[in-house]
Amino acid sequence: MSVQIIVAYTVPKLADYSERELDEAVAHFRLALKTESSEIDLKVCDPALTPAVRQDLLRKFRDRWLGRKSGLFGHLNDLWLKNAPPDRKKHVGQLINEVKQTDLPQIEQLVKERDLIARQSSDAIRSLQVFDDVTTESVDITLPGARRPIGAEHPILKTSREIVGVFQKLGYSVAEGPVVETDYYNFEALNFPPNHPARDTQDTLFIAGQGAKPQRERLLLRTHTSPVQIRTMEKMRPPIRIVIPGVVHRNDPPDASHSPMFNQIEGLAVDTNITFGDLKGTLDYAMKALFGSSVKTHFRPSFFPFTEPSAELYVTCFICGGSGKRGSDPCRPCKQTGWIEVLGCGMVDPNVFEFVKDNGYDPKRVSGFAFGMGTDRLALLKYGVDDLQLFFQGDVRFLEMFG
Ligand code: PHE
Repeated sequence: MSVQIIVAYTVPKLADYSERELDEAVAHFRLALKTESSEIDLKVCDPALTPAVRQDLLRKFRDRWLGRKSGLFGHLNDLWLKNAPPDRKKHVGQLINEVKQTDLPQIEQLVKERDLIARQSSDAIRSLQVFDDVTTESVDITLPGARRPIGAEHPILKTSREIVGVFQKLGYSVAEGPVVETDYYNFEALNFPPNHPARDTQDTLFIAGQGAKPQRERLLLRTHTSPVQIRTMEKMRPPIRIVIPGVVHRNDPPDASHSPMFNQIEGLAVDTNITFGDLKGTLDYAMKALFGSSVKTHFRPSFFPFTEPSAELYVTCFICGGSGKRGSDPCRPCKQTGWIEVLGCGMVDPNVFEFVKDNGYDPKRVSGFAFGMGTDRLALLKYGVDDLQLFFQGDVRFLEMFG
């Protein structure tokens, strides 16, 4: 059995100061320096060690090579130059200077850079190494590279973009508005008068401590994207055609089909002579573009304070094709009716135009239609997901299925 004892490098005394001996000694010094700096490089970047241990190792390395009194660079002078025969002194001096001029700055730079890394938390180092292998000296270049995982659109965003895209092709622009809204925009200007019972249907989350303000200025989390109808009409004169994607909130406890935070896409078209026929034609076209040309649409009378007349739009269930059955089982998404409700809509109530009359929306001159759909619900149906909460929990295993 052979035992190898590895002795740490020390600067040797030179015997004959011949050219060959000097060359070998310098090469040996440089090899030791290179080996040890690769080793320290690895350790400083090792997330299995604590920052304190990594900093301590780096400090020892620095003292060993660069230390003022006992550093190995210093030993070159003490051991090689001082003992050199007088006729070799000049040459040895030049040689040592050359080593110092090339290797010393590199090592100082390395220590400085690695000091920053040594201080990082292990987690930070781990995340660094996924993208950028900092231990360049020890890379096995035959290994496949560390791939940065490519992100994917969240299924809700994907659905939202798809719906918005259908309307953009029809000439609609995109508008957005604040999630924290005033009572005025969320209710009053949409024809929900103060204390009107229709407000109760919205399960509003109010911002606390607003009691001292006039009611219309009080802040709340918008319960629908409809306030952006008013905000846009205040800014843009008719004709307009816009879609408004966005987040809304309601005081609904989370379950498989409800969430206190969800997404809507609003639509608004205002022009001269817009009729209910335009509303039906536009939405029928959009539903076919989204769910396939065989989908049928069906409008049922409904009520919203800001549209008159109002309707709910149903499409034939794209799970069971309208039969209400899946084989011999009842179709659950449409509750066996063969129809699925997808949005609320209607002709803009003239009372709403009264709030923006001064910007060209004279209810005697213009008319329009509006609609609002639940993006998340559509995504659920589209992807056959049975629990709304999955969309909001951020579980990568779920989200990867849509990548
Ligand atoms: N804002 C309504 C809701 O959230 C939907 C809607 C929008 C209805 C536009 C009619 C017109 O329920």
